[in-house]
Amino acid sequence: MNTYVAQIAPQRSTQYAALADALAPRELALSALGAGITNIAPIELGGQSFLKFDYSGALDAAERNELGMLAMTSAYYEYRDQIDDALGPWLRPIDTGYAPVFPPDLIVTRRYKGKTNELFTQFLCNIARHSSAFAAAPWHTLRVFDPLAGGGTTLFAALLLGASVAGVEKDSGDVESTATFIEQYMREQGIACRVKEERLKKIGRRWWFTIGKVSPERDAESPWPKQCVIAIGDTTQSADLMSSVKRPNLIVTDLPYGIQHHGELSGLIGDALPVWSNLLLPGGALAMSWDATRFPRADMIALAQTSSSLTVLDDPPYNQLAHRVDRVIKQRDVLVAHKAINDALK
Ligand SMILES: C[S@@+](CC[C@H](N)C(=O)[O-])C[C@H]1O[C@@H](n2cnc3c(N)ncnc32)[C@H](O)[C@@H]1O
Repeated sequence: MNTYVAQIAPQRSTQYAALADALAPRELALSALGAGITNIAPIELGGQSFLKFDYSGALDAAERNELGMLAMTSAYYEYRDQIDDALGPWLRPIDTGYAPVFPPDLIVTRRYKGKTNELFTQFLCNIARHSSAFAAAPWHTLRVFDPLAGGGTTLFAALLLGASVAGVEKDSGDVESTATFIEQYMREQGIACRVKEERLKKIGRRWWFTIGKVSPERDAESPWPKQCVIAIGDTTQSADLMSSVKRPNLIVTDLPYGIQHHGELSGLIGDALPVWSNLLLPGGALAMSWDATRFPRADMIALAQTSSSLTVLDDPPYNQLAHRVDRVIKQRDVLVAHKAINDALK
């Protein structure tokens, strides 16, 4: 048994610091290391917040890499109370070996109203992967779909982790500005990026980006190129908007805020969830967050179970993911559900 500490990712505001404090232990428990972790507890070292935990063994390279991908913690150390006669605590830094696939300004540069917190979005991606049958699959083999993509935070979080991505959003301005941003960003970074724009009869428009060089041998193992598809349209038409796009392993989304009526959100979810769950590959998982201040978790679970064949995960820590966002969104919650591996391909 070894003891480690993970530093809670430092945040630029108290509000986000509280978010990281609340979700960091959950993310660790829902990571590849989770099954071997015991005695997880918050501690303060040198005025900084950490999580201390015991792990069943020494961390191998793959486990260190998994730590590096976590969103809510940012630095990792082996921990000793004492070394010989010298009292600690002593920390030895762990090199996780993880580096995001693109420079992180891909996700942080743009600021706009309604943007979902970047680290929270990465957290959703991580727990969706962990909850799927693809938990051990490298990110570059996975495809992530956000059916309510806004300005693309999920797409960028998943691209940084290494996935290929797709999104649907009804606001044409959001999609157009995201498409322009991707092209400009890749050009500035000197990353190869081909774009194809398409009109989809009666339902919308979409852009296909092929990012990074196509390997000359067309090697199936190569993590390049990545695909990014974004479509303007209504999410209930996701099947048509995503026609000929490879089906996603994971669906990650942040539901619209500011919806006044319970009925409006349940109408959207009731109509959209069957479409989303049909798109999801068998063995895939969905992680979605919503403003639960006036839309209780029990109602969301009931809705998910009646409108789709997905199985909702509701044992701890899945039922402990609710957290405060700000004065308006007093409680945001996260629902994670998976699709049976033997669910027939539709
Ligand atoms: C919370 S926002 C997503 C923000 C996004 N995660 C980001 O950081 O940019 C929810 C999005 O759902 C979109 N939306 C709501 N109803 C929709 C529908 N029926 N079809 C497609 N998009 C919809 C809204 O326009 C909004 O952009």
